Amino acid sequence: MKIAVLTGGGDCPGLNAVIRAVVRRGEQHGLEVMGVREGWRGLLDPPLHERLTRESTSGILHLGGTILGTSRTNPFKKPPGGSEMVLRNLKALNVSAVVAIGGEDTLGVATKLGTMGVNIVGVPKTIDNDLSGTDLTFGFDTAVTIATEAVDRLHSTAESHKRVIVCEVMGRHAGWIATHSGMAGGADVILIPEIPYTMEAITAHIEKVRRQGRNFALVVVAEAVKDHAGQRVRQQHSGGGLTYGGIGHSLGAALARATGAETRVTVLGHVQRGSQPSWSDRLLASAFGVHAVDLIANGKFDRMVAWQNRAVVDVPLSEAILAPQQVDPGGALVRTARGLGICLGDG
Ligand code: F6P
Repeated sequence: MKIAVLTGGGDCPGLNAVIRAVVRRGEQHGLEVMGVREGWRGLLDPPLHERLTRESTSGILHLGGTILGTSRTNPFKKPPGGSEMVLRNLKALNVSAVVAIGGEDTLGVATKLGTMGVNIVGVPKTIDNDLSGTDLTFGFDTAVTIATEAVDRLHSTAESHKRVIVCEVMGRHAGWIATHSGMAGGADVILIPEIPYTMEAITAHIEKVRRQGRNFALVVVAEAVKDHAGQRVRQQHSGGGLTYGGIGHSLGAALARATGAETRVTVLGHVQRGSQPSWSDRLLASAFGVHAVDLIANGKFDRMVAWQNRAVVDVPLSEAILAPQQVDPGGALVRTARGLGICLGDG
């Protein structure tokens, strides 16, 4: 029996660990594993694929990115007849089941293909940690580690120059990276999409911090936060693609005006997605890969592997496309931040 594995959407530290685990566990179940290149793009015409073996996936556990490449291709959107092309190619390639590793878009496609008869299992991934159905996604720990290190590094230079430094981090729907790195890095202000902010609240906090004798301030802001005019700041990239990004700069300028402080802005961007996965992301990704193959071997499809209550479990694949999992403004994380005297922008 032959199974296929693919990685779709933005890359994420830990993808290679999943691929490696799928191959190793597949071998134990006597399954041949085919790697599909470039996400769903690799199942359109002409298909892009390669056989994966223990040898060809050796030495990839600690590598960032994905050896299979990735794309944001959605065969239900483009080209016309794309989903039928995928079905045809899976049949022609003699693939019995698919492991789709991705975020909401990739797993949304997987869910639809499942209803069309494809035997499919999903593996959730995103550095943003915002997928529903799972307490944790791999890549998040690595991203938070990188963002925390950045906030640490910004500390000394902010202090030396008596500056307000704004650090913009990723998080398309949620403030998980911002809250974790901001708290771990000792930020003064953390802004997240879940909590609307006012300039008055941030300015009052920075002034209070000054009165307390601290002559600098660190502000961590999630990319999807609305600016003071209520707009989310987006970037149109050359070569295609529209993402969030830029709120840091508009906020920095507004803060300079409001506080009179010298202000600098750092946008971490894709630095958060690069590099080696942390040990915990490697473990989580490996556990997800093993469980995904076990589901296939047991004939359980339309499931997504997930992490809940300290264990790998599986949930209906359709859960992945429910509303994103956001930071609870009244939850323990935010209460802790407030207990530390951190301003969340709302007073
Ligand atoms: O979903 C993960 C994510 O890293 C978001 O935080 C960010 O907005 C987006 O991907 C960036 O995507 P791209 O790879 O298209 O620049």
